[in-house]
Amino acid sequence: MQEQVIKMTGIKKIYHVGDEDLEVLKWVDFELHKWEFASIMGESGSGKSTLMNIIGMLDNPSGGNYFFDWIDISKATDDEQALLRRRNIGFIFQWYNLLPKTPAIKQVMLPLVYQWVPAKIRKQKAIEALIKVGLGDKIYSLPNEMSGWQQQRVAIARAIVTDPLLILGDEPTGALDSKTGNDVMEIITKLNEEWKTILIITHSAEVDKFAKKHIFIKDGMIM
Ligand SMILES: Nc1ncnc2c1ncn2[C@@H]1O[C@H](COP(=O)(O)OP(=O)(O)OP(=O)(O)O)[C@@H](O)[C@H]1O
Ligand SMILES: [Mg+2]
Repeated sequence: MQEQVIKMTGIKKIYHVGDEDLEVLKWVDFELHKWEFASIMGESGSGKSTLMNIIGMLDNPSGGNYFFDWIDISKATDDEQALLRRRNIGFIFQWYNLLPKTPAIKQVMLPLVYQWVPAKIRKQKAIEALIKVGLGDKIYSLPNEMSGWQQQRVAIARAIVTDPLLILGDEPTGALDSKTGNDVMEIITKLNEEWKTILIITHSAEVDKFAKKHIFIKDGMIM
């Protein structure tokens, strides 16, 4: 039996818009185990990003149970959730979310600052992560000196530098063309082969085929 990373049951999310209740997630049961590589697919507006924000502890569900690494998230305070998130989850978003005017190495070192890692080790780990994503020659480059896919590699290095339990990607290739998108998915596949647990959210069949477990969300439920 593989160790569980995520276990959700009956997760709901209701947004209040004006005087209307928008029930985006009706009932989500979902499990992810260590070393799995899963994708969640669904049409635009089906609730993928909403679910990812809950999984990533960026937002709280309106109901249901969520255990991350066996910890009951509904009982964790916002500060405890933030700590769990920083230690255990690496995020990759569609738009790389890099800091402007900041060299790659500094971007990648940043998550380690929050973990009180000494500066010398931060630097060493950031360089290792950049080499791992094939950017060994771009360590001191600025975002505006890099192409989109190189920037997304910096974002991947930033996501893996803390050696997180889970890597979460929301449309990680959404801003890239299919060739560079495939390159990025190959890097993510390699991370999975090196025993990282991966969950990707996408509406692209091309991205979905890299995953080994496929989940479909429709009308606020997992099919
Ligand atoms: N903060 C919010 N307040 C109100 N409604 C929201 C909010 N966030 C999302 N929604 C609505 O919830 C639904 C699901 O949105 P979500 O972003 O999760 O979809 P998605 O599957 O990620 O779509 P896409 O493929 O376009 O990224 C949509 O109808 C959206 O308009
Ligand atoms: Mg989305």
